[in-house]
Amino acid sequence: MSQARPFREQAIENLNALPPFPLVFYKILDITENVHGSRDELLRALSLDQAIVAKVLQIANSAYYGLEKKVSTVDRAVALIGENMVREVAIYCSTYVILRRPLARFRLSARQFWEHSVTASLAARCIATRKIPHIREKALVAGLLHDIGKLAMDGLIDQNLEEEIQERLEKGRPLDEIEKDLFGIDHCEAGCLFAEKWSFPDDIRDAISYHHRPGQAADHLHLVYLIQVADKIAHVLSAGINIKDFLELQLNATDWDAAIGYLGLSRDEAELLFPDIEAELRGNEVFLEL
Ligand SMILES: [Fe+2]
Ligand SMILES: [Fe+2]
Repeated sequence: MSQARPFREQAIENLNALPPFPLVFYKILDITENVHGSRDELLRALSLDQAIVAKVLQIANSAYYGLEKKVSTVDRAVALIGENMVREVAIYCSTYVILRRPLARFRLSARQFWEHSVTASLAARCIATRKIPHIREKALVAGLLHDIGKLAMDGLIDQNLEEEIQERLEKGRPLDEIEKDLFGIDHCEAGCLFAEKWSFPDDIRDAISYHHRPGQAADHLHLVYLIQVADKIAHVLSAGINIKDFLELQLNATDWDAAIGYLGLSRDEAELLFPDIEAELRGNEVFLEL
């Protein structure tokens, strides 16, 4: 316990060392908050960041590679792939620079961490589209950012602790519990501090803070439970775990039943999510290679 404070301070230092989110990210979030956010606002927001515009155009072109004429303006990209898609592409492009980092102590390469974040975001969007369509875009953003606190935790872990963490994980202890035990702070709380520092909307902050313990959240419960389920699905898909085996294990896991129940999904409906999310992933591979 005596070491808890220095670790916590170090985690905060690690957070402070991360670069800020691009301004365009906030502008797009604002537009997402406002259901009447106009196309002109979207174009204005994107005009702030030419690097992101270039990425958006690159994706519009690769999604429509059959076009004879290349998409060379955001205006044309909006006309072709729609405002929603352009907004989502801009969200991926503007978070990529922060999130695509290796987490050596979690044994994740930059690509693996990014892939987990993208998979959780697509899973969250897929579930929201079926059950809670009005939070569809929030779901995508929260899914993408849910593990951002791991960026602060990675630097705290030395070789000995890495082994200790692995041993405890193998014994079935949840990661957030292990982190809390060893460092006095877990990646959920570190993510919450990050969300506060960078003024993320409250619902996204709560989804990040409670994605491992949704029962502790007081607000925004749909989004929080949704991210818990999306995170689990992303782990199953990226670890290549057999889906039937996973679902069998969940028969005795009250947290899975509670989460899918909160989202209005039966066990059968939850099972059917997996192939649909895998199809979404195949259809959005372009986001893995930004
Ligand atoms: Fe997590
Ligand atoms: Fe996760």
